[in-house]
Amino acid sequence: MSEPLRIALTKGRLQDKSVELFEAMGLDCSPIKDPGRRLVHTIPNYPLEAVLAKAPDVITYVEHGVCDLGIVGKDTILEQGKSFYEVLDLGFGKCRFALAVKEGTDFYGTYKTRRIASKYPNVARAFFAKKGMDVDIIKIEGSVELAPILDLADAIVDIVETGSTLKANGLVPIEDVAQVSARLIVNTASMKLHKEAIDDFISRCERELERRA
Ligand code: PRP
Repeated sequence: MSEPLRIALTKGRLQDKSVELFEAMGLDCSPIKDPGRRLVHTIPNYPLEAVLAKAPDVITYVEHGVCDLGIVGKDTILEQGKSFYEVLDLGFGKCRFALAVKEGTDFYGTYKTRRIASKYPNVARAFFAKKGMDVDIIKIEGSVELAPILDLADAIVDIVETGSTLKANGLVPIEDVAQVSARLIVNTASMKLHKEAIDDFISRCERELERRA
């Protein structure tokens, strides 16, 4: 039998949704569901090995070809750029990037250079570059909502899912920046070298996604 394909899964919420998808496709995911401290898991009834990683690392592993496939959010893809194939929108992990300000702020009503805080500086930069607006971007590692509250920034570009974090901190979204959901990505060389196996995996995913639609 040929070498199994290797897929990198984003740990956490996307991992659970990926497992749900795989089980619906008939894959036995028991090793991933009871992982212990193991990070590499062999699927017993399909030629696939799953690796659990943080989102930016999923892209790194796929780009370097040590994983043939990956499941990662469009947010990370937009931030990191890409040299891989993005083959499927998996339809879960849905949220959006939004521009948000302190309630009552007239963000566009001034000529001074705005300061934008974000965990996603490239996404924020590209959004304002498209508008032809000169802004200062400040990279924040987490809980970006603090930046406008502490008057470090005039606005944030961040992930909004339910909107409750913004609301709880007196912030309001004023513009959508991009829609986000989980994507299946494929290493460019693997796509040629393991075409048959990858096509089989993609069509199984597609069949399940169609069934859900
Ligand atoms: C994300 C995001 C928002 C929050 C949005 O943060 O950066 O803070 O979730 O979700 P909501 O619209 O449903 O409230 P995360 O939980 O990843 O934590 P972090 O900001 O500390 O990285």
